[in-house]
Amino acid sequence: MQIIIFGAPGVGKGTQAKILASKLNIAHISTGDILREAIKKGTDTGMKAKAIVETGGLVPDDIMGGIIKDALKEDRCKNGYILDGFPRTIEQAKILSAILNELKVEKLTLIKLDADDQVIISRLSNRLVCSKCGNIIVKSNYSSNFNCPVCKSVDSYIKRKDDDEEVIRKRLKLYHDTTSPVFNYYKDKAEIVEINGTESIDNITKNILVKMGKG
Ligand code: AP5
Ligand code: MG
Repeated sequence: MQIIIFGAPGVGKGTQAKILASKLNIAHISTGDILREAIKKGTDTGMKAKAIVETGGLVPDDIMGGIIKDALKEDRCKNGYILDGFPRTIEQAKILSAILNELKVEKLTLIKLDADDQVIISRLSNRLVCSKCGNIIVKSNYSSNFNCPVCKSVDSYIKRKDDDEEVIRKRLKLYHDTTSPVFNYYKDKAEIVEINGTESIDNITKNILVKMGKG
């Protein structure tokens, strides 16, 4: 099963992708997570991407194409995958089409999550991320000596550098100007599942699975 989860920054792509990957037994490929890991390790890609990611820009298409090509060839993708954060430009969509052709993938599902910018700004301003394992929580659930419920690290939650309001607004503008047209590219190339992203996390998962015929 090959899925793209699509939508604005902060609409809940990562939250749903993680749940769906576990329920459907497929890999979760988040290009944002891959870039943040590369930045943390100080790899060549990480050094090229650091300033771009932290200021809410888009990493060049050739770098992203290389990352996705490598990721899709990993063993963990054998049973399928959910792409979170890719493609973000028409050029990236074309790169993905070429890779999927090469891998003889015939069926693709695109899940589109929608929410207003105001909801997104509020969510991202209140998001904290575990610096050790990447788990996400909302700020109101955080207190000092907080134990990560996933990796058990203590006091490991931080605000992402790109979750400052000014950077959030820049990411949203880039989404509306550059990424949202990618949706049209897939209208005749994928099964489209459109979902209201403002419901509860559980309801969104249920709605996605029902619309995919997996509920
Ligand atoms: P990336 O990590 O992909 O960031 P993003 O698209 O901006 O998305 P986010 O991770 O911020 O949000 P999300 O939709 O995953 O929402 P989440 O589930 O966390 O990319 C980061 C950067 O890397 C980019 O800006 C770019 O620089 C670079 N990059 C990555 N891919 C690239 C590419 N292909 N090309 C070029 N550059 C690339 O949810 C958000 C918050 O809301 C959380 O706190 C969560 O708990 C909460 N929440 C989620 N669902 C709900 C709900 N239903 N109700 C209430 N709260 C909810
Ligand atoms: Mg994410």
